[in-house]
Amino acid sequence: MDHFSYKNGELYAEDLPLAKIAEEVGTPFYCYSTATLERHYKVFSGAFEGVNSLVCYAVKANSNLAVIKTLARLGAGADVVSEGELRRALEAGIPPSKIVFSGVGKRPWEMEFGLNVGIHQFNVESEPEAKVLSEVATRMGKTAKIAFRVNPDVDAKTHAKISTGKAENKFGVPWQDVSRIYADAAKLPGIEIQGVDVHIGSQLTDLEPFDNAFQRVRELVLQLRREGHNITQVDLGGGLGIPYDGTIPPTPTSYGNVALNAMGNMGVQLIFEPGRLIVGNAGVLVSEVIYVKEGAERKFVILDAAMNDLIRPAMYDGYHHIDTIKEPSADTVIEPADVVGPVCETGDTFAKARDLPRVDPGDLVAFRSAGAYGAVMASTYNTRPLVPEVLVNGDQYAIVRERPSLEAILDLDTVPSWLDDD
Ligand code: LLP
Repeated sequence: MDHFSYKNGELYAEDLPLAKIAEEVGTPFYCYSTATLERHYKVFSGAFEGVNSLVCYAVKANSNLAVIKTLARLGAGADVVSEGELRRALEAGIPPSKIVFSGVGKRPWEMEFGLNVGIHQFNVESEPEAKVLSEVATRMGKTAKIAFRVNPDVDAKTHAKISTGKAENKFGVPWQDVSRIYADAAKLPGIEIQGVDVHIGSQLTDLEPFDNAFQRVRELVLQLRREGHNITQVDLGGGLGIPYDGTIPPTPTSYGNVALNAMGNMGVQLIFEPGRLIVGNAGVLVSEVIYVKEGAERKFVILDAAMNDLIRPAMYDGYHHIDTIKEPSADTVIEPADVVGPVCETGDTFAKARDLPRVDPGDLVAFRSAGAYGAVMASTYNTRPLVPEVLVNGDQYAIVRERPSLEAILDLDTVPSWLDDD
């Protein structure tokens, strides 16, 4: 459930008409709803009430400081994958003791930063990484608390580009080598093994792959304990999907049951890394119709938002529901159209032959479920400035990231002296 709904004939974010924000902020812009963020966090964490658990919001899904801070206030921890994300989490007020550091390519200075602030756990993805972390920690006279991310070789049944738990994927250590890798790592100075980590993919709409992976992890924890390791932490990753196109994913409660069924009685702290589930449906991208063009074969609705602002349709064939800001009435004409942006490539297509209420230039539309992997994946392709982000809370809103000026974008480049016009 989210807090974007029609009232008085137009689409609102909580108690504010999106058209009013558009008038003041300009389009395109991302708009997030505090009430929705809070609700999703509470529903997810509620599935583990009374369980020794830590919900580490996956900052990569939406790293706006105001979004992280909203979740930090509810007690969220953070899953980060770079020093930049780690700094964001800390600045938003998440204590280091609730932060896990994931990612396949951590650099020594990132490890050093994490060790200095004292994060809860490094999720280590390879033996070379464990060795570098050991060297960095030893040099600093510190101990890095680690879990290895294991690759359980299960099919997450999601889009190939966001499936991570098959043996062919770059993530985690190979299942058949886990035993040896733990034994070797236990001998490394500056390293304390405390857990096991798994993350099989994103936008999963079926519980079975989770169940398979979690059961395998359960067996693994028992085996590692038999081999003498003190496993106190099990990180089960993120990945629970959201309803983009009408497919209803499992509820957090049923996901929780699968997790607890596998791991509930193992005497470990359970760590979860949800991203999309928390922020996905808490955000929309609002855009204005620039032109409506009758092509030779079809109608094109040309928007002022483009693939550089929301890349999911181009990159993952992602479906985003499109609402007109004006509420359609019973006699509104519904017509199929290709919804596209102004960027100069055919991939800049948000939807093909989508049935939409008839729109005219100047009308506003909202892409739903755009809170996760939207603004964070934006670029300035075609020298289009990153779009602003707005956070609504009841009947108030704040711009939580400004639209940069074109001057600021041009200023990022420098021209070498040999090109000076004397
Ligand atoms: N933990 C790890 C280690 C991850 O790699 C990810 C996502 C998460 C947690 C959070 O997963 P979530 O709960 O959000 O599914 N840009 C793509 C999604 C990429 C996901 C990357 N990793 C998209 O727009 O669909």
